[in-house]
Amino acid sequence: MPTTNLMTPFGTDIDLAEGAMNDPDRHLIRRPSDMKGYYQDEDALQKLIDDGDAVHYEVFEKDVPEKYGHVLFCISSLQPGRVGDECFMTKGHYHTILETAEVYLCLRGTGFMAMKSPDGRSVLEPMTRNRLVYVPPCWAHRSINTGDEPLVSFCAYQGDAGHNYGDIAEQGFPQRVFIRDGKTVIQ
Ligand code: F6R
Ligand code: ZN
Repeated sequence: MPTTNLMTPFGTDIDLAEGAMNDPDRHLIRRPSDMKGYYQDEDALQKLIDDGDAVHYEVFEKDVPEKYGHVLFCISSLQPGRVGDECFMTKGHYHTILETAEVYLCLRGTGFMAMKSPDGRSVLEPMTRNRLVYVPPCWAHRSINTGDEPLVSFCAYQGDAGHNYGDIAEQGFPQRVFIRDGKTVIQ
């Protein structure tokens, strides 16, 4: 057991009702202009960009080393809305170390966790407050917001997992989610 360079324990406050990390060390923001190629309706995305390029989703993190043995955790918050009639979503990624899992505990909102595996399977797991989704090793994952409020999750995963956005921009996920005539449509 090493006794030098030991990290000092810390605590942090998370507002579970709001789904907010009160004192994050890092704050990642993605805007519609970061999402080119991900949505079906490119003109509708361009309109969102031209109309102010408002925050699309955010990730709040504490400063945990991105190393094996640590557990990275964050709050992921995806705004409600549609690009054309396609529900707002995150880019989605595999982990760079493919065989690393992740847990998502939904704190607020309604939607899906879309997951796809390298052997061609696809799962849309419902997300709603208090529901935990387990993303097993090797599955790419993307949050999709079908509701009218932010879809907020607490996520935790292996410290050195990394993010691989590789084939997702080109190939997407097998299923897209739309709202048409007030109903959720999966295609
Ligand atoms: C971490 C993780 C989440 C996402 C976040 C943003 O492994 O899955 O923290 O990073 O929801 O989504 P992406 O990374 O797909 O833009
Ligand atoms: Zn992940």
